[in-house]
Amino acid sequence: MIDPSEFRRVMGHFASGVAVVTTWGTDGKAYGLTASAVCSVSLQPTLLLVCIERTADSHDHIRAAGAFAINVLDAIKGESLARRFAAGDEPDKFRGAALRQERSGAPVLSDALAWLDCEVRETWDGGDHTIFLGEVAAADARAGSPLLYYRGGYGRFIP
Ligand SMILES: Cc1cc2nc3c(=O)[nH]c(=O)nc-3n(C[C@H](O)[C@H](O)[C@H](O)COP(=O)(O)O)c2cc1C
Repeated sequence: MIDPSEFRRVMGHFASGVAVVTTWGTDGKAYGLTASAVCSVSLQPTLLLVCIERTADSHDHIRAAGAFAINVLDAIKGESLARRFAAGDEPDKFRGAALRQERSGAPVLSDALAWLDCEVRETWDGGDHTIFLGEVAAADARAGSPLLYYRGGYGRFIP
């Protein structure tokens, strides 16, 4: 096994998009966290996966709700949302955010560049993360530019 910080440094060279994964808690509150470990899995059926750290506030709520939404962030409003949803000590991550519900009921951020509404089909142990396999029940995207993450910094896509 290599050193975890070295693993993080090297994986940081794999540029990614940035999403906020959202769900409802059993307490009726919206929960969410910034995530880049999102991957398309299957077209028939439509499946994707997301890896969530076991200690994240949202982790048990996603499991209990059996549903989550992937909110892909854009380059304009996305960086401040990404920073806020990655801050463990942020008291109200959803402040000022317009939300709506799609088929599964998971909260969708109106500012998202794209969103995918998912029902949990499987979970697997992934070390200190859980791998959630979601079946995509509804999804849409709008025109715009994505927020990117590379070597610990945010950036924009320049075609
Ligand atoms: C760009 C970026 C990508 C991240 N990707 C993930 C991820 O895929 N899975 C994960 O569990 N945490 C990821 N994190 C870390 C969480 O956003 C962070 O630990 C957050 O505070 C956890 O949520 P909590 O405050 O509800 O515990 C990422 C953070 C950043 C800044």
